[in-house]
Amino acid sequence: MPKFNIIQYPDPRLAVPGKAVPAVNDEIRAVVDDMFETLYAQDNCAALAATQLDMPTPWRITVIDFSESKDQPLCLINPEVVSGSGETNSQEGCMSIKDVYVNVPRYETVEVHALGLDGEKRVFKEDGFMAKCMQHEIDHLNGKLMLDHLGKTKRRIINRKFRRS
Ligand code: NI
Repeated sequence: MPKFNIIQYPDPRLAVPGKAVPAVNDEIRAVVDDMFETLYAQDNCAALAATQLDMPTPWRITVIDFSESKDQPLCLINPEVVSGSGETNSQEGCMSIKDVYVNVPRYETVEVHALGLDGEKRVFKEDGFMAKCMQHEIDHLNGKLMLDHLGKTKRRIINRKFRRS
């Protein structure tokens, strides 16, 4: 059983930014373990942000693993996109917005700063799917969804679908 339930759009909690982690301690590491357990329990899930999980404190934490063998866990604590360059616009999905796939404009390459599980600062310079994934997850931690990148008309069409169900 997954440790946490994944909050579904249009739940207003998805728009609330995550709380910065003051210190990486055993309590935080236990939350991260439970987040990975939740991630690995899903089909086709590349990453999860704490703010999309039903947990007591939605921390500024994201867990990522899109390897085939599911053995390359990457955890980012208090991550920030500090710079980006280039542009891409490719299809994304979200575990909190079922059956919706939209093209989202993103930086092609990003520099991300975060803390690791040991509390040490790490610098990532990424491109390709990892860059896209980090931007999507850090958006979540800022209370922003992929739909927030769309124009009004597209959003209205998607929102209609969720109001009906
Ligand atoms: Ni998402």
